[in-house]
Amino acid sequence: MRVPPIRLGVNLDHVATVRQARRTTEPDPLQAAILAEIGGADQITIHLREDRRHINDRDLRLMREGCQLPLNQEMGVTAEMLDIACDLKPDVACLVPEKREEVTTEGGLDIAGNAERIASATERLHGEGIKVSFFIDPTDEQVRASSDIGGDAVELHTGEYANATGAARGSQLERIRAMAEVADRLGLDVHAGHGLTYQNVGAVARVAQVVELNIGHSIIARSIYTGITDAVASMRVLMDQARTDARMDVPPQD
Ligand code: PXP
Repeated sequence: MRVPPIRLGVNLDHVATVRQARRTTEPDPLQAAILAEIGGADQITIHLREDRRHINDRDLRLMREGCQLPLNQEMGVTAEMLDIACDLKPDVACLVPEKREEVTTEGGLDIAGNAERIASATERLHGEGIKVSFFIDPTDEQVRASSDIGGDAVELHTGEYANATGAARGSQLERIRAMAEVADRLGLDVHAGHGLTYQNVGAVARVAQVVELNIGHSIIARSIYTGITDAVASMRVLMDQARTDARMDVPPQD
């Protein structure tokens, strides 16, 4: 099958996490976005959380105004976030579950169990010309519910794949592959993300139906040593190499 190019969305939340450790003004997510663009990022992803623990309202506004790349706003499905998104008009709103006590987004959004609320949020965002992506666990039920509701894309949660070792990793990858196929057949754009690193990105980037990865922690962690432009460029190289290998049917290394 055709293997289209794959986009890299760089999640910059943790640039703001470092700033918030001292509640000061540096480092600045917008400056990081500009350097990420030079490194080959296709999109900037940021998550304005209810508790504003990293990205704040000003970051979101400045990012929209100052960065030329498409903006993917991750958001919980709340009245407050919907108002903010409809006012800001990011290119994409990625709907995620959000709990105050979690360290990061744990588990996907239960689309099937909250269909009415999510359908109404989706309709409102669509009304403002914003594309809507659902961050979901890679299950048949969630993929089909995402399609029924009329989402534009699903972002398949790769956390379990990233945490798995040995044979379990292979079965998690198989799950992602199978659900990427189902989602693609249903006409959804297929994205993936969470827990992806320089070590584990290749296998996911090889999945032909996956056209976008959103990666944060691993890139920001490496950027402490190498700078963000280099950290993004290195991830891009791995993703592009995986696509080339998939096109040429080179057997996977792991
Ligand atoms: N995609 C979504 C929906 C997320 O919530 C996150 C974490 O903020 C990511 C991707 C990026 O995950 P990581 O920081 O583990 O790369």
